[in-house]
Amino acid sequence: MRTAILNGTLVSAAETLPYDLYFDQGSILGAVPRGDQRFGPPEMSIDATGKYVLPGGVDVHTHLDLPMGAFNASDDYATGTLAAAHGGTTTIIDFVNHARGESLLKNVEAWHQKAAGRAVIDYGFHMTVAEASPQVMAELPAVVKSGISSVKVFFAYPERLLLDDPSVFRVMQRAADLGALVLVHAEDGPPLDILVEQARGRGEWAPINHALTRPEVAEATGTERAIALAEMAHAPVYIVHVSCARALTRIVEGKSRGLTVWGETCPQYLCLSEDDLRGTPEDPFAGAKFVCTPPLRPKIHQEALWRGLAQGHLDTVATDHCPFNYVGQKDRGRNDFTKIPNGLPGIETRLHLLYEAVTQGKLSLERMVEVAATAPAKIFGLYPKKGSLLAGADADLVIWDPIRPVTLNAQSLHMRVDYSTYEGRTVPGSPMQVYSRGELLIDRGCAKAAPGRGRFLARAPA
Ligand code: URP
Ligand code: ZN
Ligand code: ZN
Repeated sequence: MRTAILNGTLVSAAETLPYDLYFDQGSILGAVPRGDQRFGPPEMSIDATGKYVLPGGVDVHTHLDLPMGAFNASDDYATGTLAAAHGGTTTIIDFVNHARGESLLKNVEAWHQKAAGRAVIDYGFHMTVAEASPQVMAELPAVVKSGISSVKVFFAYPERLLLDDPSVFRVMQRAADLGALVLVHAEDGPPLDILVEQARGRGEWAPINHALTRPEVAEATGTERAIALAEMAHAPVYIVHVSCARALTRIVEGKSRGLTVWGETCPQYLCLSEDDLRGTPEDPFAGAKFVCTPPLRPKIHQEALWRGLAQGHLDTVATDHCPFNYVGQKDRGRNDFTKIPNGLPGIETRLHLLYEAVTQGKLSLERMVEVAATAPAKIFGLYPKKGSLLAGADADLVIWDPIRPVTLNAQSLHMRVDYSTYEGRTVPGSPMQVYSRGELLIDRGCAKAAPGRGRFLARAPA
């Protein structure tokens, strides 16, 4: 049905225009000056007076249904993608898990099973690589061929995921040959594990020790090493979840030397701090709700990250959505911070928090669209189908109401988790409507979408 969004203000990464937008059969027909009838009379029209019309959000870092130790992340594909849609995100890229000794391709198949019949929005996968064994290296071409053109490696978690430098280097070379992008979790893990053991030996069990045993310098040196290895491998590199000023400085250095280095940060590093990890004087364990990796940093880092984002030193904002309930999951670490599952809920609140920052003058509306939709779509091979308002793009759209405040809390949000890290925070704007391929998913907070309508996005190699 030929549909027109009339009287709104279109916002792309490049410009803001008082235009009408037409779409039909799931695709954008085009944007025209108000009143222009070149696409013929619409069969349906939506009045967007006073609203912004944005490309649907693209969140390239999520963990749905992720097994972690004794637990699974609490959102599955049905609940997590619906929550994403409520927040104006219409595309995600989720991480396929890998454990040493396992086949990558079997894991990919398992991830397709998790998503099929459940996803509400379109989704792609990144491949996690926990070892560079002959089998893994042999399977990589088939993984890329199946539409997964990005691979994540870890410098942290020696017992489960860490790859040593030669292995990372070989993965980077192979990925570059295959046209795949390597993502790096850049905390330098082995010394951190020693710090953790020493803290436990001293009987320091509270959640704040998670931050105290994972200092900024570990992320800074890891980021530098990731960029150096990528430079030697002649490969681009994407640094995930940048949390601190010194890691950002390393990215700026890499970019200034002409290297293809992308930096991602997350709302939690922009909006929360180490203070949250301390909990309250009466209940220091409440800080468990804020345990994620890398850890939240002292507040001073927020300013550096916001500036880095506004100036183009950081390229994307993704959520690293990896929720665990406080009761029954996070609280299993009550007597030992190392047993608190790492990860925060966030898939639903990314655009709310970025828009709040727009109203505070921290970044422009166009830059918000760029870091939340356009740049991630470009970096991960989804543009211009996703992340744009161009003719021919998927009609993945958010009609954003700048004066529809919402108070964020576990009850009002849709993520399947029993707390919010932003409990009680009122943000100034929220989506009025959210569309995916022209289909109305969310209308003024009401879900209209059926699970299973989301499609796998096979991404071509670069
Ligand atoms: O605490 C986090 N971030 N959990 C998810 C795993 C990761 O390293 O991204
Ligand atoms: Zn990570
Ligand atoms: Zn992650």
